[in-house]
Amino acid sequence: MATKFTDAYDLLATSVLLVDDDGRLLHVNSAAQDLLERSLKSLERTAAVDLFIDAQAFTKALDYVSGRKLSSVRLTLSLRKPLESVPANVTLTRLLAMPWSILIEIREFEQHALAERNERLFHEIEIYKDTFRNLAHEVKNPLGGLRGAAQLLEMELQDPALKEYTQVIIDEADRLQVLVDRLIRPSQSQLSMSVVNIHEVCERVHALIKAEYQDRITIVKDYDASVPDMKADMAKLVQAYLNLARNAAQSLLSDDRSRSQFESGSAVDDTARGPQHSDDRPQPAGPQITLRTRILNKFYLLNKVHRLVVVVSVVDNGAGVPMQLKDRIFHPLVTGRAQGTGLGLSLAQELAHQHGGLIEFDSEPGHTEFRMLLPLEQV
Ligand SMILES: Nc1ncnc2c1ncn2[C@@H]1O[C@H](COP(=O)(O)OP(=O)(O)OP(=O)(O)O)[C@@H](O)[C@H]1O
Ligand SMILES: [Mg+2]
Repeated sequence: MATKFTDAYDLLATSVLLVDDDGRLLHVNSAAQDLLERSLKSLERTAAVDLFIDAQAFTKALDYVSGRKLSSVRLTLSLRKPLESVPANVTLTRLLAMPWSILIEIREFEQHALAERNERLFHEIEIYKDTFRNLAHEVKNPLGGLRGAAQLLEMELQDPALKEYTQVIIDEADRLQVLVDRLIRPSQSQLSMSVVNIHEVCERVHALIKAEYQDRITIVKDYDASVPDMKADMAKLVQAYLNLARNAAQSLLSDDRSRSQFESGSAVDDTARGPQHSDDRPQPAGPQITLRTRILNKFYLLNKVHRLVVVVSVVDNGAGVPMQLKDRIFHPLVTGRAQGTGLGLSLAQELAHQHGGLIEFDSEPGHTEFRMLLPLEQV
């Protein structure tokens, strides 16, 4: 009978521990073994309390449930893993007429899982960046020589028509130089910290995008006025946020699919059209960007729980991030635009990371949101 039950628990995606009244582990399902990064053998008959950093809180919860004071208790604990501890929601439930006394469910914070994914991505990008930087350094010197030689050649040319060719060499060398400089630059720069209100950053980006795109895009501000000041490098945050906003603007205006989408009103908000859906929702607008700020309490970001995290996002109603790019979008030199160099997002991610934060995104046709999450150290 017990074997049959444990087989069933092993099929669950949720992590489950089955314990006796003393909190001794009788079974640990496969999902929990994966989560704890330990084998069933190493866990069986050991005390469940050892799996948690906050032993006291766990023991108290166990006492309540095993003493039948409560049938179920839910609490947040730090889970002990071989190399780190992670926050998790833990539920203890009293079992009736079962071979075990108490069932413990463990759910890792979704935030944490997401943050961990981002962390992995960041390290992956770091490796790429090193390679690109080395390559950029290698390209830099011959490029200078190439350009100089083309200039010398140009001076020797008698036929002005031929200068067209040397000019191509010089222009393309200059273009490569800009690319190479952008690849090398970020690693050299240090943060210059000051007291910043995130809305100064938003306003600066608003002004720049407005000047650049004028009436072609509607820009909506959706600010949470309660966001306190923070210590940050204003210029760097502006640069990171501007890269996100510019991407949104470029996607809205230069993407053929998105243009036809606005013309036909298809992907944005089809359902809001037509007499049968005459609700209060805004009509499918033209190209629109929303600059949004929010504050999160007790948020898990890059291995730490932060008391306050500010989320500053750019939302657009364009065609969305191309499917085939979604996994690699933060990698350097990955672009979906003919004129793009594919460095904007990787630089923005790096700048956010320098501030202890990160950038993440969700995208579907008609709604794309790039969020910069920054821990807010109170000033
Ligand atoms: N808001 C968005 N909507 C749709 N696609 C986006 C959006 N933001 C980014 N992308 C996609 O991600 C790609 C990579 O963006 P990234 O900013 O890194 O490079 P880029 O814009 O192509 O070039 P660069 O920023 O260096 O000029 C873009 O080319 C685009 O395909
Ligand atoms: Mg860009």
